[in-house]
Amino acid sequence: MILRINKSLQKKTNLLSKTTLQNKYGSDAFDFSLKDNQDIFVCSKCKELDLIELDQLLQTVGWSRRPTRRVKRALESSILVVGLWRHDEKFPRLIGFARCTGDGILEATIWDVAINPVYQGMGLGKELMKYILRILKMIGISKVTLFADSGVIKFYKSQGWSLEPKQTKCAFWYAN
Ligand SMILES: CC(C)(COP(=O)(O)OP(=O)(O)OC[C@H]1O[C@@H](n2cnc3c(N)ncnc32)[C@H](O)[C@@H]1OP(=O)(O)O)[C@@H](O)C(=O)NCCC(=O)NCCS
Repeated sequence: MILRINKSLQKKTNLLSKTTLQNKYGSDAFDFSLKDNQDIFVCSKCKELDLIELDQLLQTVGWSRRPTRRVKRALESSILVVGLWRHDEKFPRLIGFARCTGDGILEATIWDVAINPVYQGMGLGKELMKYILRILKMIGISKVTLFADSGVIKFYKSQGWSLEPKQTKCAFWYAN
């Protein structure tokens, strides 16, 4: 087992054996822990989500509930669905989530980025975003967009995202 330490975040990676990671979280899963925290966290694009657990997570960040059947179809239509799990041998807990839509070839848009408030401010949102961009790059997608709430623009800006110049490129249409 290799233990690699990222000096800037004092993050440790490769904490789980390859077999455990693959068996429990699927291919291309990424495990890590943070400074001063015993927990092992895992980003996974393969581990199946429990829709009730996902609904509970999204409620913790204050988002209004969406019908489960529609959420299920939205996930099925997404090109990438990522869960961030607090690892546990028996009961891994979903503490973060995001998904991407797009053509799967050229462009993607990131939606529903959420970290359970109990785990916010620890650097997990940043790790989740890095993981998503790494997977999108692996697929070959190089243009990624997202719509940020005004309160979290700093979160994305600090990770190198460029802001849309006001009213010069973006257009929205809402059915109601
Ligand atoms: C936005 C969110 C995903 C950030 O996750 P997080 O795990 O708390 O973020 P991190 O701890 O990785 O923070 C990374 C950096 O962004 C900054 N940051 C995080 N949330 C921020 C916020 N709401 N406003 C401004 N800066 C923020 C942190 O200070 C940190 O800065 P640093 O790198 O200089 O230390 C999380 O707060 C969340 O789920 N919010 C509710 C849902 C939401 O608004 N999602 C975004 C929809 S567009």
